[in-house]
Amino acid sequence: MKHRILILGSGGREHAIAHSLSKSPRCEALFVAPGNAGTAEVAQNIELSVSDFSAVEDACVQQNISLVVVGPEVPLVQGIVDYFKKTPTLSEVLIVGPDQLAAQLEGSKDFAKAFMSKYGVRTAAYATFTRETLSEGMRFLEGLTPPYVLKADGLAAGKGVLILDDLDQAKTKLNAFLSEDLFGEAGSKVVIEEFLDGIECSCFVAVDANHHYQILPMAKDYKRIGEQDTGPNTGGMGAVSPVSFIDEEVYARIEDEIVVPTIKGIQAENYSYVGFVFIGLMMVQGVPYVIEYNVRMGDPETEVVFPRIQSDTVDLLEAMCLGTLERHTLLVRNEVATTVIAVSAGYPDAYEKGKVIHGLTRAHQSQVYHAGTALKAGSVVTNGGRVLAITSFGERIEQALDKSYATLEQVGFEQMYFRRDIGKDLM
Ligand code: AMP
Ligand code: GLY
Repeated sequence: MKHRILILGSGGREHAIAHSLSKSPRCEALFVAPGNAGTAEVAQNIELSVSDFSAVEDACVQQNISLVVVGPEVPLVQGIVDYFKKTPTLSEVLIVGPDQLAAQLEGSKDFAKAFMSKYGVRTAAYATFTRETLSEGMRFLEGLTPPYVLKADGLAAGKGVLILDDLDQAKTKLNAFLSEDLFGEAGSKVVIEEFLDGIECSCFVAVDANHHYQILPMAKDYKRIGEQDTGPNTGGMGAVSPVSFIDEEVYARIEDEIVVPTIKGIQAENYSYVGFVFIGLMMVQGVPYVIEYNVRMGDPETEVVFPRIQSDTVDLLEAMCLGTLERHTLLVRNEVATTVIAVSAGYPDAYEKGKVIHGLTRAHQSQVYHAGTALKAGSVVTNGGRVLAITSFGERIEQALDKSYATLEQVGFEQMYFRRDIGKDLM
């Protein structure tokens, strides 16, 4: 059977997923909502807000959609999967994403930490505080050694984690979280945890309706705005897959000590979890610790993970929904994929939009995924902080990067910025 597919979201991740699905002979029609100028090239965009479930329902009914992929976390945490299950017109539609309860693995840091403790998944030691227990939180901080890691419990668009060297500063911020509502509702609970000193990587696990799993290619992303990992955190400035420091032995440890207990926990809690578990790992001298769970694919990691998947991705998503992942064969391209993100000047703070992007038709050695782009009067213009993800392949990481950077000589917009050191630490 062929599918009529709807992808929800508008970033580079959604363009990369759309690009991959569009190549499948099993894709009859493809829609992205709301999408961007790039998704419009491989799919039909539908203008709607991903949090407006009745608009999503209308789109599914009108376009006779049979398969939905939820890109970002917000609609998952808001319960879009539950909405599909309880709405008669949608109950037959296959949907890739966990339900609202399981999405708490990303929606609440405290929930996720309690899950890890219960199922023996290695993570930083922690304690959770609320406004009522603020003074205990202060005493807890006094007993720790710096740096101090403070995390808003709820979704904070990647801005809810503070790492502070100074005790007084940490106390001031804890107070700001809990008494001054620095992050609103998301910060009404704060997780304080042990600082882990190591190197990060991202592990993606596809989970099916019967709780079978398959590990997708690993990736590493580059979160800080500045070279050598300096400056504020961003959504991600680049990514590489595979990750050279994950050899067979480390991979086996990640699977046995992190992935298996996570899946067992999902099973034991009987979560309705069809979708991707994105495990943010910190490798501390070769020992994997979980920093966080996300309940979706990562961005920009998807822009290197999906293009490496050679087997049919409609088959993969369908197998997840039908609970037949055990019988699905995942084929992965051996070459290295790199992506370099081009951002608007000023990002992650304020930036301008509407700059014309030139050279897009000249990029032949890379796949240019669009993130914050829009079509305006026949031109592709910038429409967000992260604008383009320039993905290339190579036998070795150097060759892939050379292509991504060569493409950035040809494609661009006024005051474009990108990091020139993506993947350098892995060479
Ligand atoms: P998160 O939003 O949980 O991914 O955290 C954002 C970033 O903060 C992570 O990517 C890490 O770089 C850093 N981080 C979070 N928790 C810790 C920790 N316990 N120790 C060291 N760094 C951390
Ligand atoms: N690349 C990190 C994220 O998607 O959250």
